Amino acid sequence: MNRAAEQTQTNPLREGLSTRAVPQPCSVVIFGATGDLTHRKLMPALYNLAADGELPPAVTVIGFARRPKSDDDFRKEMEEAVKKFSRQTVRDEIWKNFGQSIFYHQSDFSDESGFKSLAERLDKVDNERGTRGNRLFYFAVAPEQFEPILKHLKTVGLNKAREGSWARVIIEKPFGTDLASARELNRVVSNSFSEDQTYRIDHFLGKETAQNILVLRFANSIFAPLWNRRYIDHLQITAAETLGVEGRAGYYETAGALRDMVQNHLLQLLCLVAMEAPSDLSADSIRDEKVKVVRCLRRMSADGVSTDVVRAQYAEGAINGKSVPAYRAEEKVYPKSMTDTFVALKLNIDNWRFWNVPIYMRVGKRLPKSATEISVHFKKAPMVLFNKETNEANVLVIRIQPDEGISLRIQAKMPGTSFRIEPVKMDFHYGTSFGKASPEAYERLLLDAMSGDATLFARRDEVEEAWAFIDIIENAWSQKKNAPELYFYPAGSWGPDAADELLARDGRAWRRL
Ligand code: BG6
Repeated sequence: MNRAAEQTQTNPLREGLSTRAVPQPCSVVIFGATGDLTHRKLMPALYNLAADGELPPAVTVIGFARRPKSDDDFRKEMEEAVKKFSRQTVRDEIWKNFGQSIFYHQSDFSDESGFKSLAERLDKVDNERGTRGNRLFYFAVAPEQFEPILKHLKTVGLNKAREGSWARVIIEKPFGTDLASARELNRVVSNSFSEDQTYRIDHFLGKETAQNILVLRFANSIFAPLWNRRYIDHLQITAAETLGVEGRAGYYETAGALRDMVQNHLLQLLCLVAMEAPSDLSADSIRDEKVKVVRCLRRMSADGVSTDVVRAQYAEGAINGKSVPAYRAEEKVYPKSMTDTFVALKLNIDNWRFWNVPIYMRVGKRLPKSATEISVHFKKAPMVLFNKETNEANVLVIRIQPDEGISLRIQAKMPGTSFRIEPVKMDFHYGTSFGKASPEAYERLLLDAMSGDATLFARRDEVEEAWAFIDIIENAWSQKKNAPELYFYPAGSWGPDAADELLARDGRAWRRL
């Protein structure tokens, strides 16, 4: 039996259908229950799981927050939120049942007595609803609240489960703001919960297409021989959003695009594309391979940051024909803010597989389109025979979102009596091939945490290694003297010219999305 299977029990009825472990009845305690994440993501995800029959019936959700509120008030508030944000239309008969499994617990995060009463309440829920002493604590709060909550959970003994049950904690990003703070946070978490109880969420890993990267690479035999420096010219990863800072300036001003997206989501995607095949599918075998990729990222020098990283901020412009303000004019943004809302960078992985294969990443807010994709650009065919004049490379595109799918660009002869060659696409679309909507990332991740499967969560060493890489760039940017330039781009454009020049000087160009 592999390690993942040992950790959890499997349901024989699901054999052949799926290899995943079965979620177990539990109480899900959400700290920060009145916040945005709970409204937009967590509650809709739980509802959709219930509607799809994926949630064990005993699962009980307890919202923990400061504002006084009755269970019924909280239920009503959640019903409205779910109706607004759920991917499926809310069905009354399902909501009726699901709504009854939601409760509210009012307390300040710094008040120990609120945690004592939470422990009593959880025991009661176990007896009345059959949650079997299993507890999942979700930290949907600002990072400064992590420590008091963790401390109180430990004081009242909620960090430990009784024999045969489990207690787990899901921590939302941002997981630190640099290596030192991430280490400190890891230390604080580990004072109350062991590593195998800790689930650091990176919602990109829960996206259907991100999970499919491993299937594409390791369930098909045709890609493996090509997936290396001999055949790959370079990789591109783009995460573009039309949205601006959307009222999150309080957080975003302390983060910027590099910390907000590159340190976690984009490096995680890169790990999936670049990792070696794991020895089995257990969480640790996969994460062992992923962390090696981050460890092999070539560390930049200060000069390297100036030449290989472009930072920029959106200026006034238009998105879909509608004018939008500059970042500096957004609410709660410092008028002289130097925060990056766009980053383009060139990285190298110093290992045998990818040595000297450049990896170009770009991420930005207020770009013309919302789309995330990875493209693998293969080397060109020899310029003989058909390829003397036009010679386009084969490109494998993994569309993370929207229109999830994969396409491969190949050369084909145009029909007709002349010999014209044109690139065409072989295309796979999730929507049409499976005729089924993909679940939201949070659905998959919540279910995995209830099943004890940490594969799609970031491990301590992965997070710390990623910060070690990012810190070099942030440190170069924060220099008082000779700091690399902050460029500006009009909202609705693909970033500053410098981002195009980053590739142009290597004789390459960003793929058009
Ligand atoms: C979050 C970032 O982690 O990911 C946001 O904090 C960003 O700034 C979001 O907008 C993008 O996620 P998605 O799933 O909408 O692509």
